[in-house]
Amino acid sequence: MFKIIFLFTFNMFLFFSNLFALPSASVLINTLHTTLLLKTGSDQKLYQAYFGSRLTNTLEYDHLPLFLEAYTTSGMNNLFEPAIRVIHGDGNPSLDLRYTATIQEQPEPNFTLTTIQLKDPVYPFFVTLHFKSYYKEDIIEAWTEIRNEEKKPVRLSAYASFMLHVDAASYWLTQFHGDWFSEMRMEESRLTSGIKILDSKLGTKTNNYQSQAFLLALNKAATENEGEVIAGTLAWTGNFRYAFETDNNNTLNLSAGINPFASEFALPPGSSFTTPAFIFTYSLHGKGEASRNIQRWAINYGILNGKGKRETLLNNWEATFFDFDENKLSHLIKDAAGSGLDMFLLDDGWFGNKYPRKNDGSSLGDWQVTKTKLPHGIGNLVKEAADKGIKFGIWIEPEMVNPKSELYEKHPDWMLRLPNREEDLSRNQLVLDLNHPAVRDFIYNTLDSLLIQSPGLAYIKWDCNRYLTNAYSSYLGQDQSRLFIGYTLGWYSVLKRFRAKYPTLPMMLCSSGGGRVDYGALHYFSEFWPSDNTDAFDRIFIQWGYSYFFPSLAICSHVTSSGKYSLKFKTDVAMSGKLGYDIVMDALNDQEKEYTRDAIRNYKRLSGVIWHGDLYRLVSPYEGGHAVIMHVDSSKNNAVIFSYNLHTPHFGHTNNTRLEGLDTVKMYRVKETDLYPGTKSGYDFHEKLFSGDYLMKIGLNILRNEALSSNIIELIAENQP
Ligand code: DGJ
Repeated sequence: MFKIIFLFTFNMFLFFSNLFALPSASVLINTLHTTLLLKTGSDQKLYQAYFGSRLTNTLEYDHLPLFLEAYTTSGMNNLFEPAIRVIHGDGNPSLDLRYTATIQEQPEPNFTLTTIQLKDPVYPFFVTLHFKSYYKEDIIEAWTEIRNEEKKPVRLSAYASFMLHVDAASYWLTQFHGDWFSEMRMEESRLTSGIKILDSKLGTKTNNYQSQAFLLALNKAATENEGEVIAGTLAWTGNFRYAFETDNNNTLNLSAGINPFASEFALPPGSSFTTPAFIFTYSLHGKGEASRNIQRWAINYGILNGKGKRETLLNNWEATFFDFDENKLSHLIKDAAGSGLDMFLLDDGWFGNKYPRKNDGSSLGDWQVTKTKLPHGIGNLVKEAADKGIKFGIWIEPEMVNPKSELYEKHPDWMLRLPNREEDLSRNQLVLDLNHPAVRDFIYNTLDSLLIQSPGLAYIKWDCNRYLTNAYSSYLGQDQSRLFIGYTLGWYSVLKRFRAKYPTLPMMLCSSGGGRVDYGALHYFSEFWPSDNTDAFDRIFIQWGYSYFFPSLAICSHVTSSGKYSLKFKTDVAMSGKLGYDIVMDALNDQEKEYTRDAIRNYKRLSGVIWHGDLYRLVSPYEGGHAVIMHVDSSKNNAVIFSYNLHTPHFGHTNNTRLEGLDTVKMYRVKETDLYPGTKSGYDFHEKLFSGDYLMKIGLNILRNEALSSNIIELIAENQP
């Protein structure tokens, strides 16, 4: 329930009331260190006056002039990229938005909800800006509700979630782009005059080429600990678009939201449209702080069961691909249990009877267990795992259909495909039409029956292996304009229904790797598969990229047979995320088995810090031959350092690495862990005691010249209460 209801105005009023219409207003949206200030002008328009570090003396916000219109429209006097563009029912292509009211409420001590209402003075057309500001995490979520009370439909062709205006000498944008097998490659560039667009039109698997996460440094390129940085992302698992427009005054206008590409639609009279949330933070101390803000928010609010535990698991995908039977699975289950893992995850290839799934050419849509392959069913495997003391999870790709399937034969109207065109297959499959209520029911019922038929099924890996072409819905008929948005909303509605019945069941979000990772989806998912590329060396870069926006507990990271590296190197890379395995464990030799059992035990001991601690990126793989990251728990009593030596020369001097995030006065016992059987730590600091002050000012000589080697170092504060 709401605890405090208040409304801030500094120019004229300071009122605590539920709703109060004002001729002018000054709305402060505060977090612990940040303020977004919106003010009305004498023209009753709403302006952004400030976004940055919070001022100590709130009265001084009065000095700040109006800057630029907070949510710019089209058709009046704005000639830059608008946040919103409409054509009214009478054909008038302009929108004028004037301030009417603000409501600020504090439903919980840690967050405030701010609602600012705007209205066209001539047309009954309303725009409400919503903000949820998370105090401790320094995060603001902003979204917009657009309401048409006109007599005729209003066409919408731009509908940003929010817009930020920034005034700095220069702007440095870090984007995260890539492709299948090479997700989240970081690239920083200086923005020049004009527009830089980061977007996706892929429909499903929308991050495949471009992530909706970005970092924007002001005045100069930022480092981990220095510089002004805005970090932003959009909670939307569909087409998105950011326009970074540097205007004639060198002001940066950033609009963030759903991509209106092929999605210009008519808003019927009496209806409203709500955009997804744009999530952003501001840091005065570099990219590291911005990213820790987002990670803390994600753990506390953004990810399903963010504060909870995760299960270590053995997945059979890279161990068997489609080639398995009950006997092989039994062996894998036994190995998983024997190694100390928590779960076995059965991947693709368990379904289809008329067309049994033998490769990726058939059966998607026929979600019945293949009787010839697994004659005793999934339930029996779940029981077998339970008997050995572990859980059982299953892979599914429920939004898809292969033309070679019973589903395709039975429901030709359920898939997206163009009239009079050949089907454009990708991985031999088509996308089901989630605009269609029967398809949504089918997906929900498929998952529900799976869980009902196999009680004890404890985990789902939800895959999505193609982007959306063939973009035509026979269900929508003449008006296809809501197809893309309807698809994403349809997907969310299935997930919402699923979560109402299964609120906590852990689910991995997968899309041929990390093609679909965002906070719209992670609301329903506990973790994600970052990449099909499981080569440990490449993974250091991929996981580095994700770490800017996602906490380690969500980044599934498996030891596989990919890459000619030592088992220790592979394991140390996987242990910095959510640990899993994707190998035939029985093929390991005795020493490797012993090491693996120890590593899993170590991981479980360290996982609290890895999952829920603060992350510090100490040495970047982008800058040389090493990568070092460090996790510190909130009490600053425990820390874990992962150090990777990449392609380093076998000679030369390595510098000390200064640690971060520790308590200067605490004394820490420093210990190398996860040592391979029969080896000893080569560090002279191993088992010694240092103050946090020393470790952060002098540091430790962690880096090694041995290429493709790694070390895990544990810090434990002595005399912990
Ligand atoms: C793509 C996923 O990323 C893989 O992990 C695996 O589940 C395959 N799909 C199965 O088809």
